[in-house]
Amino acid sequence: MDQATGLRKMVRGESRKVYRLTGGGGLSAKKRGPRVVAITSGKGGVGKTNVAVNVGVACQRMGKRVLIFDADLGLANIDIIFGITVRHTIEDIVRGEKELSQIIIEGPEGVSIIPASSGVQELSYLTEGQKINLLNEFDRLNRKFDIMLIDTGAGISSNVIFFNLGAEQRIVVVTPEPTSMTDAYALIKVMFSRHGVKHFCLLANMVEDDQEGMSVYKNLSRVVGRFMGGVSMDYAGFIPRDACLQEAVSRRQPVVCCHPQATSSKSFKDLANYIVRESANKDGAGNIQFFWRQLLCGVRDGGDESGD
Ligand SMILES: Nc1ncnc2c1ncn2[C@@H]1O[C@H](COP(=O)(O)OP(=O)(O)OP(=O)(O)O)[C@@H](O)[C@H]1O
Ligand SMILES: [Mg+2]
Repeated sequence: MDQATGLRKMVRGESRKVYRLTGGGGLSAKKRGPRVVAITSGKGGVGKTNVAVNVGVACQRMGKRVLIFDADLGLANIDIIFGITVRHTIEDIVRGEKELSQIIIEGPEGVSIIPASSGVQELSYLTEGQKINLLNEFDRLNRKFDIMLIDTGAGISSNVIFFNLGAEQRIVVVTPEPTSMTDAYALIKVMFSRHGVKHFCLLANMVEDDQEGMSVYKNLSRVVGRFMGGVSMDYAGFIPRDACLQEAVSRRQPVVCCHPQATSSKSFKDLANYIVRESANKDGAGNIQFFWRQLLCGVRDGGDESGD
């Protein structure tokens, strides 16, 4: 039984009523649907939202169709940071007042954004019919995007874990600050020990140069290797501490848009290359479905199904 069939059975299994899933081919087809990448961290304020938006724009410039899922349920959401007007959120879907396509907003340089707000958890309480409708909408979305970046928020709360589990690749943003490293370690530990996730990518932010980035990576991976055998960590690269980025934040614009030649902009481009290269090497089938299934059905069975 493939994943889509299982999904349909699971959703239908809540009652004997039969609802129709349209466009079923899209759910089960191989190599279809975006690669799902979580941008996450243990500690807050380490640069996740800036990474998500700048790398999103950089991927879009490479011809990829990018969707950012703003899953940070805190206050500093993407729309506020980048001065985008949000009229509707997932909450409107929960209330049955809007469809998914109506809540997606256009961000910088055509990057699409789903503003999450606090309605995400309520998605698992939708009725069976509503879930089927949403899955059909998500199925249509799958064909419109190549990469979905999730800005997960910080910490080890159930929300952060929840979104990380749905992603195929997890980029843990870390700064050289000791608390950022210990909090990243705590996040990796929870993901591994409770959910069996074995693979992570580390992005060193706010470092001097590649050398400092590498040293952050080596320090963390050494400790992870010692206490969590079986966990592997890739080095996704570094973003330098850059005054241009801070200036861009105060202008409420992505740095890659207002300072394309800045050192941080160049690093965001490298990171976009890394993500695109990784997606080309992997068959992403199944993971986008897994993500939406988690979101809608509240399936928290964990496990690193991606095997990457
Ligand atoms: N590479 C960088 N160089 C200089 N400053 C940076 C850099 N990255 C992030 N910052 C600073 O850190 C601040 C926080 O960044 P951002 O909002 O992206 O973090 P976050 O991890 O999303 O935070 P939260 O956990 O609150 O969602 C930015 O406003 C900016 O001032
Ligand atoms: Mg943020």
